[in-house]
Amino acid sequence: MTMLTDLEADPETLNTRLGIAGRVRFEASALGGTVVVLEHPRGRATVALFGGQVIDWQPAGQASVLWLSPVARLDEGKAVRGGVPVCWPWFGPPGRSRGERQAGTGPQHGFARTATWQAVETGDSTSGPWVTLALTAPSKAGKGWPGKVEVRLTVVVGETLELRLVTRNLGAAPLVLTQALHAYFQVGDIEEIQVEGLDGHVFHNAVALGPAMAISTSLNSQIGAVTFAGEVDRIYLEQRGPVSIVDRRLGRRITMTKRGSKSTVVWNPWRDKAGNLGDLGEEGYRQMVCVEAANTVYDAVKVPPGETRELAAVYECGPA
Ligand code: BG6
Repeated sequence: MTMLTDLEADPETLNTRLGIAGRVRFEASALGGTVVVLEHPRGRATVALFGGQVIDWQPAGQASVLWLSPVARLDEGKAVRGGVPVCWPWFGPPGRSRGERQAGTGPQHGFARTATWQAVETGDSTSGPWVTLALTAPSKAGKGWPGKVEVRLTVVVGETLELRLVTRNLGAAPLVLTQALHAYFQVGDIEEIQVEGLDGHVFHNAVALGPAMAISTSLNSQIGAVTFAGEVDRIYLEQRGPVSIVDRRLGRRITMTKRGSKSTVVWNPWRDKAGNLGDLGEEGYRQMVCVEAANTVYDAVKVPPGETRELAAVYECGPA
């Protein structure tokens, strides 16, 4: 089994099976591990098999849109900070945030981001080249793996970057999920950006209340755009619409539209917490913001036996 996994992650073998000239290429990353590079005249994305994680997206002629930790490695078994980590099958600490059926232990934000995914399919569509990665069990079947379930992530790059995370319940009992596409965006200066699209929405303030392990009635209400002058860790509820990061310093507006999600998470750890995390780099918190398409305990997803549920996000980047 180890042999097979090793082979499957070998770029040469993968290119023979799944490479598409000029569009989809597997390669050994300078960060360790295997990545797949999707190329289109309008943009390029790099996806790591470790974590099923998009680690770079560059629309043509622009700087990287996603932020990646300066100490990121794909071969150390540790969650990679940056790009778009996949939080699955739960968002946040283990326990009730995992959904009603699944109490217990396990890593923060689930197994998917520290598992090696399998590349199963590639293609080139009118929207651009794409790859589908799959996870049927974590590398070392961890405690709390939610039974017979498969998750697939499809990444498409062209004019936009699109991520579709599809969970299929292969078991006999309903599966309850919380999850997130935990995107880290590169910004000019955190104190100068605004996050639009959240005005009027109530939010769970995790800085005051702690992570959302249960539905709280102590919610706040957003007035105007979100700005940053300290730690922000919020779950905006009933939020289906687009959200934009307006970054005048970099002269760009990044917009996320989403499907299958009513929770939008906005996070910046600020200086002290960033220091404790240890992988943001010197003053790194100033150059990043997370805006996440999520299902949290407030909108946990029930997947009946035999059915699938999709969480998807489309990112686009244009002038501010
Ligand atoms: C966010 C959470 O989504 O992820 C934060 O809202 C958390 O509470 C952050 O601190 C980062 O989590 P981690 O496990 O990647 O350090």
